[in-house]
Amino acid sequence: MVYLKNFKRISTLLTFVTYLTFFQTVDSASEKDCGYFCNIQGSRYGNTISKNNGKTLLEHAKSLGSQYNYYMQCCDGVLRGHENVTIVSKDLKVLPNSTVKMKGEYSFMPIDRYCSTYCAHDLDNRITYFMYSENMTLEKFVDKYSADQYKNKYHLFTYCCDGTFTTDRMTYTRHKTQFSLHIPSFTIEKDSLSKVKTQLQNDLMNKSCSYYCNVKDKSIISIGKSNGKTIKEYAASMSNKNYDSFIKCCDGNVNKKSNVSVYKINNTISYYQNIGSQYIYKYYNEFNTECRYYCGFNINGKHYSVVSSQGQTVLEAAKTYKSVFDYMTFCCGGEKEIKGILVSVNINGEERAINTKEYTYQKVSKP
Ligand SMILES: *[C@@H]1O[C@H](CO)[C@@H](O)[C@H](O)[C@H]1NC(C)=O
Ligand SMILES: *[C@@H]1O[C@H](CO)[C@@H](O)[C@H](O)[C@H]1NC(C)=O
Ligand SMILES: *[C@@H]1O[C@H](CO)[C@@H](O)[C@H](O)[C@H]1NC(C)=O
Ligand SMILES: *[C@@H]1O[C@H](CO)[C@@H](O)[C@H](O)[C@H]1NC(C)=O
Ligand SMILES: *[C@@H]1O[C@H](CO)[C@@H](O)[C@H](O)[C@H]1NC(C)=O
Ligand SMILES: *[C@@H]1O[C@H](CO)[C@@H](O)[C@H](O)[C@H]1NC(C)=O
Repeated sequence: MVYLKNFKRISTLLTFVTYLTFFQTVDSASEKDCGYFCNIQGSRYGNTISKNNGKTLLEHAKSLGSQYNYYMQCCDGVLRGHENVTIVSKDLKVLPNSTVKMKGEYSFMPIDRYCSTYCAHDLDNRITYFMYSENMTLEKFVDKYSADQYKNKYHLFTYCCDGTFTTDRMTYTRHKTQFSLHIPSFTIEKDSLSKVKTQLQNDLMNKSCSYYCNVKDKSIISIGKSNGKTIKEYAASMSNKNYDSFIKCCDGNVNKKSNVSVYKINNTISYYQNIGSQYIYKYYNEFNTECRYYCGFNINGKHYSVVSSQGQTVLEAAKTYKSVFDYMTFCCGGEKEIKGILVSVNINGEERAINTKEYTYQKVSKP
């Protein structure tokens, strides 16, 4: 009961429950295949939603007992009010045709996702801490910080992937239910975000990875191999001034990245940035082989040509033609292969997707 004073303020969902005096004691709410239950007017968390693992509503109510006043099915996974539904009270009365009113609606939050930053909340003191995810999914993170040693400090957890905590959102409780948290009633611990940023800075600057993406105007232009360099060393090695920043693309995949740390050429870091990518591709890494013809692309001139490769690999041909073409790729069957989007390579081994539609043919002679 000591927490009852809090729940109206911390939950966005205020509830009113009305039902007919008529009630049944038979197990009429027997469907086991409903995916979620809503738990109404709890002493600790207010209204929550929990996943169902094959229980009937009555069985669910029995397992939680007096933790909540009422239980109902929320099969669509959304915590919200319902009209004319069967609810079960904490003393296991089945109440058909009941109406549960709630303000707002919140979907069950997937917990198997990963991002760099989560928020953990101290419900008793109403303090929110930004926390470094330690590369764990939210589920694993909650497992770790629900341990007994933390039980008086953290009670609720949620995603804070963009380093802000300004809108109401679903939270995951230590007891593996979920409820929507009303933000203004919480104070953010003021040093916690800078602590997370220090961790993110370490991740970005101290640990090298296999590939970095080269960025201009918040969009990925190309991807290069790190060859063991840190991102700072890699950035220094880029003579190409077409890039203004660099991000980690450790798995070699080029695609849009949300809420990532960005290293800028002026040696500053931006956190929680969204970086776009016009194309999705993976670092190809096989340009060290030969075929009969290659296609070369001139980026600024927007023209291409087909050259005979004379026993050179694509990378070697890129060097031969570096005064004419910025990027080269295989066109083993000749000009007819110039279509669609081609991944190509430059003399530094940077790979870039090229939309051939944007280029026109222009004959070149060998330099
Ligand atoms: C609930 O029941 C009342 C009375 O029978 C009816 O007027 C109302 O339309 C019903 N609501 C829904 C959503 O079925
Ligand atoms: C509940 O509603 C259904 C139809 O919506 C009706 O058939 C039934 O009689 C109602 N039960 C009670 C107890 O009012
Ligand atoms: C996070 O863990 C995954 C495997 O669980 C690993 O592939 C990835 O490189 C890790 N990322 C960081 C930043 O440590
Ligand atoms: C980035 O952060 C926002 C806000 O937390 C979130 O909605 C979005 O899903 C995040 N993106 C990723 C890929 O985690
Ligand atoms: C990362 O490097 C900075 C300086 O380059 C150093 O101060 C910091 O302790 C390092 N962090 C880790 C975790 O190694
Ligand atoms: C670094 O560059 C960014 C723009 O890319 C700019 O916003 C920032 O002020 C610069 N920082 C310094 C210290 O020059």
